[in-house]
Amino acid sequence: MGLLASVDCRGVCAGRIVELSADFVFVVCQAGAEAAVREEVLRNHDELRLAFSRPGFVTFKCDVDKKPPDRLVLKSMLARTYGWSVGRAVGEDGDALVRQILDCPVLERCDAVHVWERDRKLPGAGGFEPGASVLAAEVGEKIVDAVKSRFPGKEVGLNRVTKADALVFDVCLVEPGEWWFGFHTASSMALRWPGGCPRMDLEQEVVTRAYYKLKEGLLWSQLPVAAGDLCAEIGSAPGGASQLLLETGCEVIGVDPAEMEPVIASQEKFKHIRRRGHEVKKRDFRGVKWLFADINMVPNYTLDTVSDIVAHESVDVKGMLLTLKLTDWKMVQSVPQWMERLRKLGFKYVRPRQLAFNRQEVCLLAAKDRFVIRSGKKR
Ligand SMILES: C[S@@+](CC[C@H](N)C(=O)[O-])C[C@H]1O[C@@H](n2cnc3c(N)ncnc32)[C@H](O)[C@@H]1O
Repeated sequence: MGLLASVDCRGVCAGRIVELSADFVFVVCQAGAEAAVREEVLRNHDELRLAFSRPGFVTFKCDVDKKPPDRLVLKSMLARTYGWSVGRAVGEDGDALVRQILDCPVLERCDAVHVWERDRKLPGAGGFEPGASVLAAEVGEKIVDAVKSRFPGKEVGLNRVTKADALVFDVCLVEPGEWWFGFHTASSMALRWPGGCPRMDLEQEVVTRAYYKLKEGLLWSQLPVAAGDLCAEIGSAPGGASQLLLETGCEVIGVDPAEMEPVIASQEKFKHIRRRGHEVKKRDFRGVKWLFADINMVPNYTLDTVSDIVAHESVDVKGMLLTLKLTDWKMVQSVPQWMERLRKLGFKYVRPRQLAFNRQEVCLLAAKDRFVIRSGKKR
């Protein structure tokens, strides 16, 4: 076994506080985003140094004198998920690979096992979508079976959305015969998903993959969009996002000079304003609670369009999810300025994330305040 990190395990025993430590951090990202991830992580964490990089998977060595706690919090909008990297198992035989992993002391304590394959393509390219795969499911079952026979009576879920703060044993299949393993605490919504990607029903017929993007965006942000709410989307054609909102029971105003798919345009709760965002009369947005934007233009154009709408006195939008296109990865450095623009418009709670179903773009959540999100959780 090529153990790349020193693993320390003091007092492994159910119900007791156990310190688990490793000296490497792993980060899962979109294939092609590695250079941007390295730049972002190294800019925000002076305790980390680059160690290993493959499309969709990057590791960093941690300075032992400045080690963050086991409950790691990585400052990165591009990291889909992350955790402590313990080591890797290499070989051609699946059972032998499982035996290498089984020595990891985290396994006895973990609440869940997450196994996934790194992305090899941009989401949406050639039909590829991130998330569950047959290989990952097969490997996961082998690992969980082996864990259960080594620790009889142990309950461990495979590739489920974990409970908040669960200790997760992670296995990223970097290659079919090269499995990197580690662990993390599921301290945020995305850290509860296997590989940082929500499970999506890819069999369902969707108008466009914008359906998946918005679905993930809503799950991640916990924006409490509910039946009966009035929503507007700028850049709504052909209609994947509107499809999801209509399914939720919302009323939807779609703003786009392009045609909507008839299956969307014909719905009673859908109104198409066939114009560009800035050409629409602001009073047409009266009563809109949630605003979405997915315009294939540069981010400042999207932000100008949205700012103009939400700053108007007749408009009272509570929250927004904006897709901003990164025509160049260097634009990641402008995200803090974009967030500041939204704060100045009165949206106090602003968060960025590159969603698993985003392409070369990021999602910005902007809510009037945290209460907007909390009120939804109570409901
Ligand atoms: C990525 S597509 C949107 C996909 C859509 N959200 C869906 O759910 O299928 C981008 C859309 O932005 C529209 N667009 C470009 N500039 C716009 C503007 N100024 N106002 C409104 N829509 C615009 C384009 O016509 C195009 O349909």
